[in-house]
Amino acid sequence: MTQPEAPAPLLPGLPLYELPKPPGRLAVQSLFAHPAPLELEVGSGKGLFLTSAGVARPAHNILGVEVIKKYAKRGAERIAKAKLPNVAMMKADVRQLWLTLDGLVELAAVHIYFPDPWWKKRHKKRRVFDADFVARVSTVLRDGGELHIATDVEEYFHTMCAEVAPRPEFVRLHEIPSVVGESEYLTNFERKYRIEGRPIYRTAYRLDQSLAIPEPAKPMEAGQ
Ligand SMILES: C[S@@+](CC[C@H](N)C(=O)[O-])C[C@H]1O[C@@H](n2cnc3c(N)ncnc32)[C@H](O)[C@@H]1O
Repeated sequence: MTQPEAPAPLLPGLPLYELPKPPGRLAVQSLFAHPAPLELEVGSGKGLFLTSAGVARPAHNILGVEVIKKYAKRGAERIAKAKLPNVAMMKADVRQLWLTLDGLVELAAVHIYFPDPWWKKRHKKRRVFDADFVARVSTVLRDGGELHIATDVEEYFHTMCAEVAPRPEFVRLHEIPSVVGESEYLTNFERKYRIEGRPIYRTAYRLDQSLAIPEPAKPMEAGQ
């Protein structure tokens, strides 16, 4: 297996990074000033959550992953302006990020807020939150780690909950811990939608690996 790599910033002076080329693996704690419990936000957009969470939880490192470079750069500029050594932005597709993190991390939390709904029926397979996403989260979260979800799309909310439901190790939390101050907006999209008066659907889960259904054993290959 290849040694994890510490990537150089994509643009000078900004906490904005790219993944190592496959099959490279990411030395994720090298992106921050100090090693600390790590949280990941998927689809960070312009980075409002990253900066709010970075200020609220200075003893945690917070990594955003954003696939569109323009937004990833805007997010990284916001982090740089706020001078947050515990926050960084990765310009990448989260599906690639999972591969470079495989076996390297135990995340304290995964956040996914207002993922693109892909309204058209034929586009729904592009949604980032699917059964594979939940399976990845269950392997990268530490025991007791949390998955936080918010969206303005009621149908997508129920679909996400239905993707999590077959995995009893995700225990739904009745009280959703406040991630940022009550009066603040969680993300740029939350601000926009709350001002428009749209309802917001949110939930959170805590991982309890003792409740996981064991994976069925793989059949032995001939000659093993
Ligand atoms: C609707 S926006 C929400 C942005 C932000 N979470 C907010 O609430 O303001 C969804 C974001 O997810 C990003 N995104 C979509 N698919 C992604 C993927 N596979 N990996 C990383 N980011 C992704 C999009 O580029 C977009 O910025």
